[in-house]
Amino acid sequence: MSKSPLAASRHWVIALMSIVFAGCGTSSQPVEGYNPLADFEVLDPASIFATPEPQPSSDYTTEQLTRGRYLVGLLGCGSCHTDGALVGDPNPARLLAGSSTGIAYTSPFRNSNPGIVYPPNLTPDMETGLGSWTMERLITMIRVGTTEHSASSLPVMPWPAYSNITGEDALSIAAYLKSLPPVVHRVPGNVSRGEPAEAPYVHLGVYQRIE
Ligand code: HEC
Repeated sequence: MSKSPLAASRHWVIALMSIVFAGCGTSSQPVEGYNPLADFEVLDPASIFATPEPQPSSDYTTEQLTRGRYLVGLLGCGSCHTDGALVGDPNPARLLAGSSTGIAYTSPFRNSNPGIVYPPNLTPDMETGLGSWTMERLITMIRVGTTEHSASSLPVMPWPAYSNITGEDALSIAAYLKSLPPVVHRVPGNVSRGEPAEAPYVHLGVYQRIE
């Protein structure tokens, strides 16, 4: 990454970065002289957005499945929901099957134990994925960020942007996810703020430059 744009902005640096914590949350203070941008790594965008082939289905048309696959790739669902994608090492056997790496939704620089969500398995496995979800529940989750019981999901998933998806497109996405080969993969449970995390996580955020 070039340094020149950073020099122009003397006070604030907006950086999209990934830090993996194992053992998680030993210190609440930023490390003096630590430069988050030094950890910046170039990821392989092609594999992060890869989508699995759906299984032929009698419930949905080929057009719906093709459209759903196209939208899931375009909207980048796999950048969070594919195992390893968040750390630049997507597992091709677990495309869209949930991430063992979580996303901190509070800052690890401020809280020694930030809150963390683990993007769930979107394949239709009955035990570990969306196998038991109705189409309606799936569509509502994508467009409104809630379950049918109105429990709202954390804004880590960009559902406010997806709320503009048309009903037909949301149906195609849900049909595509329902037609994926089921992959057995249980992601770690979400971690509440203040609780220690046992699985790694990344933090995506806005950072103030320490002069
Ligand atoms: C920036 C990361 C990110 C992106 C991109 C993303 N999600 Fe998510 N998604 C999450 C997280 C994190 C959760 C869990 C939220 C929670 O537990 O509150 C989630 C939850 C879900 C759920 C609920 C699953 C369950 O078992 O509770 C569905 C369905 C879902 N996402 C579908 C999608 C689809 C479809 C796309 C693309 C159109 C997408 N997501 C894009 C991060 C993401």
